[in-house]
Amino acid sequence: MGLEKVKEINLPKILDERGNLSFLEETKHIPFKIERTYWIYDVPGGEVRGGHSYYENEEIIIALSGSFDIVLNDGMIQKVFSLNRSYYGLYVPNGIWRHMENFSTNALGFIVASTKFSANDYERDFEKYLSLTKK
Ligand code: TYD
Repeated sequence: MGLEKVKEINLPKILDERGNLSFLEETKHIPFKIERTYWIYDVPGGEVRGGHSYYENEEIIIALSGSFDIVLNDGMIQKVFSLNRSYYGLYVPNGIWRHMENFSTNALGFIVASTKFSANDYERDFEKYLSLTKK
């Protein structure tokens, strides 16, 4: 239905006594052309972000700092991914309902996206989302 396309991406990790380093390159690690990045931070305890799906946009989500959970639902199955490593990316294709919760203090979510921002690309009505997945 969609969740089988979700992929866990292990990014390079250069361990160093002076501090570790990770990176990503579009052509090596990202399964789409990068059009945008954004980040989520200063999330008050107990808050939930997201609660929508995208028609077109695909994303890689990384917990650069702290931790949070990504709850994905493709209309059939729900799956929770706990992100807490800065070298681990979760690829979420379009057409998946998602929200983010359980943000730790100082959590920093970094998102690499395949499209420029467009409010029209959002589906925020879960019932409508479900009806579309059944077509
Ligand atoms: P939104 O994606 O709706 O956040 P959430 O899904 O957590 O509710 O984004 C919140 C606001 O920020 C919304 O008004 C749109 C704006 N926004 C941009 O202008 N550009 C962006 O790249 C993103 C992700 C959001």
